[in-house]
Amino acid sequence: MKILSIETSCDETSVAIVEDGRKILTNRIYSQIDIHQKYGGVVPEIASRNHVTKLPYIIDEALEESQLTLADVDAIGVTNGPGLVGALLIGLSTAKAIAYSLGKPLIGVHHIEGHIAANFLQYPELEPPFLTLVVSGGHSHLVLVEDYQTFKVLGRTIDDAAGEAFDKISRVLGLGYPGGPAIDAAAQNGNPDAIPFPRVLLDKTKYDFSFSGLKSAVLNYLNGKKMKNEDVNPNDVAASFQMAVIEVLVIKTIACAKSIGMKTICMAGGVSCNSLLRQMMGKAATDEGMTLHYPDPILCTDNAAMIGSMAYYNYINGEESDLSLNGIPGLKIGTRQ
Ligand code: KG4
Ligand code: ZN
Repeated sequence: MKILSIETSCDETSVAIVEDGRKILTNRIYSQIDIHQKYGGVVPEIASRNHVTKLPYIIDEALEESQLTLADVDAIGVTNGPGLVGALLIGLSTAKAIAYSLGKPLIGVHHIEGHIAANFLQYPELEPPFLTLVVSGGHSHLVLVEDYQTFKVLGRTIDDAAGEAFDKISRVLGLGYPGGPAIDAAAQNGNPDAIPFPRVLLDKTKYDFSFSGLKSAVLNYLNGKKMKNEDVNPNDVAASFQMAVIEVLVIKTIACAKSIGMKTICMAGGVSCNSLLRQMMGKAATDEGMTLHYPDPILCTDNAAMIGSMAYYNYINGEESDLSLNGIPGLKIGTRQ
């Protein structure tokens, strides 16, 4: 079964064709990063307008690259939330128009479930159950994937997402947007023990995260230095901040996996590209006799292939959407409307 999928929930305009949920035939991604960079973050209205102008071309490119026509496609998958509502609606109305005109099924996909499904593309043999750490610009969740359709959220951030903290700290350090890759790179030349930023573990028996206190601690450190006219080493700040985030993510994920007796861990979302996270989670998992999976960086950040994979599992489990499918900015994991 070949699914043409569309992802426009934020600032990537992406179209993919995925076969049987596991094989990528094409995965075209147009990133608007250059456009939003000068504002230091994504401007929703600008994102929507660029989706409108770029999406038809990206669809053509995807068909051309896979040497398929719309007639060869069996269904249309589309992200319907969570995300920026205007941006979501561009992808949704396009998907609906294609599905309606071809008389083919329309399948709504939850963006976070899509991020998790990126692991199915990377590891064709991977099957649930497994525990996933989903860390992106908008989300930090620990999700137990019981089967292809059953997601249990065991922990979540109570304030900022991990990626949001990376983006904010990068901005104040003048390292640019998006912040994750910039901090990751700066940290390679910094000392992670230079500044003792707090590790916010909250209740040790629960698996929720909190990053706003750490963000404030970094801002206070920078303000204090400025008031005393002292120099700041941005690489040391980046490395110390990154270590504080990653240590907490690793401790919580491993503790959560242990508490439910789960030996398979996956990671998903943009922050799972982080080199320190990959290294430290890999070591911790090995020490505990657990297996760690994570997709290639191109499948960690927003892309339509992950949406095509999840759409397949929704469809074969009897889920088809109708033309009333709406864009829901705060869509809860495991729900469709
Ligand atoms: O999954 P994603 O593309 O979009 C959302 O659904 O939010 O994630 C984007 C986030 C941004 O906050 C970006 O700074 C972060 O992922 N990110 C990273 C790295 N690469 C991207 N964070 C830390 N280290 C990285 N190497
Ligand atoms: Zn995302």
